[in-house]
Amino acid sequence: MNILFAGDIVGKPGRKAVEELFPRLKEEYSIDLFIANGENAAGGSGITSDIVWQLHTAGVDVITMGDHVWKEKDILNIIDEDHRLLRPANFPPETPGRGSTVVEVPGKGSVGVINVLGRVLMFRLPLDCPFRAAERELENTRTQTPVSVVDVHAEATSEKLAFGYFLNGKASAVIGTHTHVQTADETILDGGTAYITDCGMTGPFRSILGRDIEAVLKSFITRMPHYFKVAKDDLRLTGVVVDVNENTGKARSIQRIQVRCDEEQGEGEENQGR
Ligand SMILES: [Fe+2]
Ligand SMILES: [Fe+2]
Repeated sequence: MNILFAGDIVGKPGRKAVEELFPRLKEEYSIDLFIANGENAAGGSGITSDIVWQLHTAGVDVITMGDHVWKEKDILNIIDEDHRLLRPANFPPETPGRGSTVVEVPGKGSVGVINVLGRVLMFRLPLDCPFRAAERELENTRTQTPVSVVDVHAEATSEKLAFGYFLNGKASAVIGTHTHVQTADETILDGGTAYITDCGMTGPFRSILGRDIEAVLKSFITRMPHYFKVAKDDLRLTGVVVDVNENTGKARSIQRIQVRCDEEQGEGEENQGR
């Protein structure tokens, strides 16, 4: 089966890129399952119930999150009900929502999807161990299906690579998110696990990680706080397409993709901070 994983969707331009580009990608790559990280989907930080609905309608089967998961409180209205919306699994057990799910793929069985948040160089208070959390969730999904995709939302390349080797032979794919910059190290590890350190960003590429260049520059130069608007130009969807043997759960191939919208009609959104 072919699984498309798209990197962090940033604001309205990112949502527009998904809506415009996914139908084409679905056909071109015969996509069976579409997973995307949605932690920046609402104005650059967080996600709302309306946007979750919009992304599901646009074809995103499973939405994963990250350090911005609680930025929009409206997520609390749906996170317990929507089993196709994940928050990192290594939050404490009392936290609303879930860190993994198993979704049906018509004619191809089912896929376990797991979301974890790294602890290295993350500005939040550290969470529980993401390795133990992933192991626990994977044990659960593997009772239902051999196919699994893990979103490792983390800053440090070392932590993400460690995750790849930790789950080598156990997960079908370990996909890094959070840095918004796609890395060129996609590979199939020797245990049959597809791996990439970061699959990139879905949103405006004439930007600094999806935000207005001017504002981010001012912040670096003056070291004073500035409003970071979501940028609006050069909309692209970046991610990976992973082909997984649905009977064994082993990955056959992983391919990086970066596709542009035909017309640049993005609309920026006001938003403060990151
Ligand atoms: Fe993040
Ligand atoms: Fe992000």
